[in-house]
Amino acid sequence: MKHKHSGSEKDIPHQSDNKVEDEKSFHVRDIDLYLHDVEGIGPTTTKKLKEAGITSVIDLAVASIDQLAVDINCSKDSAALFIMAAQKLLRESNVLEKEFVTADFVLEKRNSMLRCSTGSKSLDELLLGGIETQAVTEFYGEFGSGKSQICHTLCAMASRPLSEKGLDGGVIYIDTEGTFRPERLQEIATSRGFVPLEVLKNTVVCKVYNSSHLELIIKDLGGYLNKFKAKLVVIDSIISLHRAEFSGRGTLADRQQRLNSILHKLVRVAEIFNVAIVITNQVLSSPDTFFGDPTKAAGGNVIGHTSTYRIYLRKSGENRIAKMIDSPYHPYSDTRFTVNEKGIDDLEDSTNRAKELEGGSD
Ligand SMILES: Nc1ncnc2c1ncn2[C@@H]1O[C@H](COP(=O)(O)OP(=O)(O)O)[C@@H](O)[C@H]1O
Ligand SMILES: [Mg+2]
Repeated sequence: MKHKHSGSEKDIPHQSDNKVEDEKSFHVRDIDLYLHDVEGIGPTTTKKLKEAGITSVIDLAVASIDQLAVDINCSKDSAALFIMAAQKLLRESNVLEKEFVTADFVLEKRNSMLRCSTGSKSLDELLLGGIETQAVTEFYGEFGSGKSQICHTLCAMASRPLSEKGLDGGVIYIDTEGTFRPERLQEIATSRGFVPLEVLKNTVVCKVYNSSHLELIIKDLGGYLNKFKAKLVVIDSIISLHRAEFSGRGTLADRQQRLNSILHKLVRVAEIFNVAIVITNQVLSSPDTFFGDPTKAAGGNVIGHTSTYRIYLRKSGENRIAKMIDSPYHPYSDTRFTVNEKGIDDLEDSTNRAKELEGGSD
């Protein structure tokens, strides 16, 4: 393998003990790893490739043999050799392994996944044990359906040790609606017999005022996770700022694109850092619901297709109903819970619960 850059300053990755810096320098290295580093590719071929729109080793590695042969006017055999050489270089540089891994590695990674109790046994059951790390869980529902109450309760629960179904880690609470209440967190912690000050100190709150600020915080989330040793990130809510700022029809595509990039970043961060990410989302309340699917969250398909799990919440008298909407493996099901001094909680009487579920067609 040729390394024409060898010895140049560009090739030296920045040394840092900070994970985020390492991630950045990794990407910098990617960018420096380019076409003429691929075995068999000299300046003439590089020029032809660039003219054909193939500007990086990754572009070349995923090119089709037939198309490449036409594009750079070479034989199919040569095209195949170039593509394979590009793939080999990516593998040797640990780029391909990051994209393609064997199933046993995936299983090992899944096994390091942790679950955090929501504070309600019935909601935990719906989630098959609680909210997961390496995943983005979205709670959506109308105003007052209990989204922020779930978030507050999770702050208390995540501080608990693993043996108590917590995450034994810090919480980053990103508040875009100004609805975080430390007094409420204190009440929840006290009612559950936790030391309130410990829980409060374990939660860092970031109040966000506009969508650019939110985007900036999410961009640097990896660094904050390290800094605060956080295992849970709450974003309550993910869409309100973007919704308020990008309200005209003309700006809708822009808004969706920006939300899309936020969400993809969140999914990657959840996986790489083995943390749980919880986002909330509003549904348009009636009369909008008259004209469409009442379980449709704001933000449209962008959020729905990116979140790993989506739970729809609605009020039912004094209680709340949670419904699993989208999940790779949870059965489609629903459950009931209530809101009280402990945050979210199970219904007092499980017989009542069974009865309600029987007649629960509301
Ligand atoms: N200490 C409490 N005890 C009982 N219910 C509460 C308490 N605090 C909040 N609630 C209930 O939670 C509701 C608000 O839920 P919230 O999670 O803020 O809604 P949203 O889905 O809009 O975020 C209130 O309407 C109230 O019914
Ligand atoms: Mg709320």
